[in-house]
Amino acid sequence: METQLENLRLLFLFLLLGSHLSSVFSWKKEEFRNCIQTPFCKRARHRNPGSCALVAHDVTIVNGELTAKLLPKENHENPDQDHDQDQSKPLILSLSVYQDGIVRLKIDEDPKLDPRKKRFEVPDVILPEFDQKKLWLQKLLTEEDSSSSVVYLSDSYEVVLRHDPFEVYVREKEGKRRVVSINSHGLFDFEQLKVKKEGEEWEERFKGHTDTRPYGPQSISFDVSFYDADFVYGIPEHATSLALKPTRGPGVEESEPYRLFNLDVFEYVHESPFGLYGSIPFMISHGKSRGTSGFFWLNSAEMQIDVLGSGWDAESGISLPSSQSRIDTFWMSEAGIVDTFFFVGPGPKDVVRQYTSVTGRPSMPQLFATAYHQCRWNYRDEEDVENVDSKFDEHDIPYDVLWLDIEHTDGKRYLTWDRVLFPHPEEMQRKLAAKGRHMVTIVDPHIKRDDSYFLHKEASQKGYYVKDATGNDYDGWCWPGSSSYLDVVNPEIRSWWAERFSSKVYVGSTPSLYIWNDMNEPSVFNGPEDMSSGKMIGNAKVTMPRDALHQGGVEHREVHNAYGYYFHMATSDGLVKRGDGNDRPFVLSRAFFAGSQRYGAVWTGDNTADWDHLRVSVPMILTLGLTGLSFTGADVGGFFGNPEPELLVRWYQIGAYYPFFRAHAHHDTKRREPWLFGERRTELIKEAVHMRYMLLPYFYTLFREANTSGIPVARPLWMEFPSEEATFSNDEAFMVGNSLLVQGIYTERAKYASVYLPGKESWYDLKTGAVYKGGVTHKLDVSEESVPAFQKAGTIIPRKDRFRRSSTQMINDPYTLVIALNSSQKAEGELYIDDGKSFSFEKGAYIHRRFVFSNGKLTSHNVASNAPGGAQFLSECVIERIILLGCSAGPKNALIEPENNNVEIEMGPLLLKSKGSSSFITIRKPNIPVASDWTINFL
Ligand code: GLC
Repeated sequence: METQLENLRLLFLFLLLGSHLSSVFSWKKEEFRNCIQTPFCKRARHRNPGSCALVAHDVTIVNGELTAKLLPKENHENPDQDHDQDQSKPLILSLSVYQDGIVRLKIDEDPKLDPRKKRFEVPDVILPEFDQKKLWLQKLLTEEDSSSSVVYLSDSYEVVLRHDPFEVYVREKEGKRRVVSINSHGLFDFEQLKVKKEGEEWEERFKGHTDTRPYGPQSISFDVSFYDADFVYGIPEHATSLALKPTRGPGVEESEPYRLFNLDVFEYVHESPFGLYGSIPFMISHGKSRGTSGFFWLNSAEMQIDVLGSGWDAESGISLPSSQSRIDTFWMSEAGIVDTFFFVGPGPKDVVRQYTSVTGRPSMPQLFATAYHQCRWNYRDEEDVENVDSKFDEHDIPYDVLWLDIEHTDGKRYLTWDRVLFPHPEEMQRKLAAKGRHMVTIVDPHIKRDDSYFLHKEASQKGYYVKDATGNDYDGWCWPGSSSYLDVVNPEIRSWWAERFSSKVYVGSTPSLYIWNDMNEPSVFNGPEDMSSGKMIGNAKVTMPRDALHQGGVEHREVHNAYGYYFHMATSDGLVKRGDGNDRPFVLSRAFFAGSQRYGAVWTGDNTADWDHLRVSVPMILTLGLTGLSFTGADVGGFFGNPEPELLVRWYQIGAYYPFFRAHAHHDTKRREPWLFGERRTELIKEAVHMRYMLLPYFYTLFREANTSGIPVARPLWMEFPSEEATFSNDEAFMVGNSLLVQGIYTERAKYASVYLPGKESWYDLKTGAVYKGGVTHKLDVSEESVPAFQKAGTIIPRKDRFRRSSTQMINDPYTLVIALNSSQKAEGELYIDDGKSFSFEKGAYIHRRFVFSNGKLTSHNVASNAPGGAQFLSECVIERIILLGCSAGPKNALIEPENNNVEIEMGPLLLKSKGSSSFITIRKPNIPVASDWTINFL
């Protein structure tokens, strides 16, 4: 069956290639529901500003929170008037404030009024410890004219609830400038659950599928405004620009909102607001005058978000402070409750830190996972695996992980092996492990409905599957054919799933095997939103019906966007259990939700081997980073189609800087391992991979920074240069940490690239050491050898320059420090090291150094002294080389303190006079221990 499906896919691909991009786009538009075809979106978009007449009553403080009732105006002023009973029930508003400038605003139906069903609140996303940061509100202030209530947020900010009509905003105490607000345009609407009236039609039909909608309309929508904002970002996943474009308003032609609905979109197009595999309803605004703020709506139903172009409200008669520039947005969701968070920033890093204090910091990956991964659908058999593995050695290309896609299983029964193709899985894994390498196998959430399959037998007996609207196990079509889907929203079922990863259950697995969760949107080939003909043309994979049922009477529509998140969570917990809590899990997931950063890596799904997809991979990864997911990447080479060798090389060159670096390809593409395109190309790919391996100590340090602060590994330029307007919409270049800037090359045979280097300090070319001025756009010559990459003056980057077969074989290798001096002859950088594997770093078993160069001295400081738990990590590694860039006085000698008699430092000659005025000096073999305090005096 899957071969037939794939043939159809190919035929379709062929047809598409012949057509113009715009027709591809319109084809996509027809295939998926747009706003007009989605009744809640259509209704919401039709409302006019000012239509919300909800008034806040009974405003008071209870249990340290502000609470109020929201009632329609007429109800209050004219209680006898006849109106819709259901919609005039009070809504309950509660507002709580937290340390570090975070506000939580919830609005729901009143549970005491016996609604027909408890509306869904997304469980297990908000960290339990977040509650400890709650500030117990004591006092409610009232504005002079009694129009609003005001509560404390921090010494600099306060929250205002205007009563009539209700509006909530955060403002600065001094000067009263607004930061973020909700319902300032009076678009708030909350469809309360009601009893069906005679003759009312609740069912919805789309392309041959019927959604029974037993609870009727239950959508919520409202406007959110960001003040002093020049751009808004976030709300992945869309294949589009980093700075979000207006979707409505004067001069906007393309009028679809950004959709958040996890879908497996076959051959997604770039430049599109359609929702892809994951959803994070978190938006960040940034502007030159104030800085950054954020807004997060914890809601896992389908969401549609409009970015409203300036002037959209010209006719509304609503006036907001005109001294502040503003971006208005409009949020619509099919179900759930209002559970929203406001973040005050004021810096970009503050907002990400605040957001990840609510949804969790990214987990710390194992070292091997931060290195290069080799994947393909599929490595055919054990011999193929062995050949590929040995070719890497033959060509001196390091790699850490070999991946097996769905064909390695026994008929797409996950956690089994095709014993003809893979008769000795343990031995195969052990051979890889002997070279310090790992294996990853795919495990999808659809379970083949086959009574002889142990997983299906147990899951169906225990009643662990999602049910259809009639209460039977939901039966959908996926890779194995007829399949059912585990109800992982339920913690008991997650716990059962987690147990499946023990070596007893997952026969043929060894401790060096890790997991890939795919199709967890969930993807269902014959689910709703497929082609109306029902022929599954082009394998248009879609998803589960919205009226399918999860335990506790939760409808799939309410939880859809978080389904993949729970599956990822359960698998990741499974690997932790397998290793008795001593082995950090690695699980790659395609679907994601807010909080997925706690469970592992995410990739951008089935991209295409073309230059546009190479280009869009960068804003996609940057957006994920801004919304908490720091461990992300795109399929290097492009999944569909065959990349021209030049494109493949360029993809490796930029992919080497993706936080997650994996090559992958569809099974109908030609083989494309790095050595298949002639000696020169192999050499170029090898150099790109080598660059990643050299920089692994720097990357690992950045992963630790993400793990402690949420600040992503790959960052938009404006995150590092928040007051430089020239960076705000730049998504062709990005920062890796605070020290490296990388510019992709996105066109064929490029001769030049325009590269804007921000800031006042200079930048050093990573390969040549050539120096370039900051604050200027440079027109640079481009060669095939690398993409432009620069180290910022004033930074120190730790490297390992000896190449081995895998990252784990480099563990004892010595370090190189690259010191790029700024105009004051100063620089700083950090290095984080731990065992690369276990959780003992959480108990303090790590080394964390800060290197500071100033006044001609380089000093290594311990910044791990406050580590909890008292555990220790020791390292014998030394620093074998120091490279000084931009040194104005050429030192002749270097003295180490404390004195180290065994070491004789060799000062390398002045190696290179590079283009600008810079030079670099190498200090050979200082051989100082990386883990201790020392100073080097350059004389
Ligand atoms: C999906 C995945 C892709 C994988 C394929 C087969 O299309 O996105 O990466 O190779 O399924 O498992």
